[in-house]
Amino acid sequence: MEIDITLNGDDVTFEVARSDTLLDVLRDNGYTGAKRGCDTGNCGFCTVIVDDEPVKSCIRPVSQLGGTEVETIENLGTQDDLGPVQSAFVDNAALQCGFCIPGMIMRSKALLEENPHPDEAEIRDALSENLCRCTGYEKIIDAVQDASTRMSGEADVAADGGRVPTNDTCRGCDCLEGGSDK
Ligand code: FES
Ligand code: FES
Repeated sequence: MEIDITLNGDDVTFEVARSDTLLDVLRDNGYTGAKRGCDTGNCGFCTVIVDDEPVKSCIRPVSQLGGTEVETIENLGTQDDLGPVQSAFVDNAALQCGFCIPGMIMRSKALLEENPHPDEAEIRDALSENLCRCTGYEKIIDAVQDASTRMSGEADVAADGGRVPTNDTCRGCDCLEGGSDK
């Protein structure tokens, strides 16, 4: 069967078996950021975001996901240009072997988009579905708090950068006059 989803902002169609999980399809198609740990819904290593909710992709049948928006860690940044949650994890030394980290980062991103300023208890609660065998979790909590600050800073810049321009700052188009539909 074919399944149509929006994956990291792109409309894609995958040929899938009815028994495939979302993790099967992602990894078979090169999206290997989501890791296969327990494969039974217990570790959270496979976490991605589906329609703004963190989802353990190893137990989510892909046949149920037609028309959904799926986001994987490949959408957050590159090695040379990490996203704010990724860079917060790196700068806080919140990873050791790294195997759990894509799932941790995706669940953290989902949390911060829903609750931009979570307290420690809210972070611990949100991440309770994701296991880590290396770090002891403290640095991960620090990283999520740091990411919260970084994402708030970006929002402030966006808010400032989005102020209504004046005729002195806007050149070359007639957008202030409502004449442009570009
Ligand atoms: S691999 Fe999906 S929860 Fe462990
Ligand atoms: S960093 Fe190794 S399992 Fe989390």
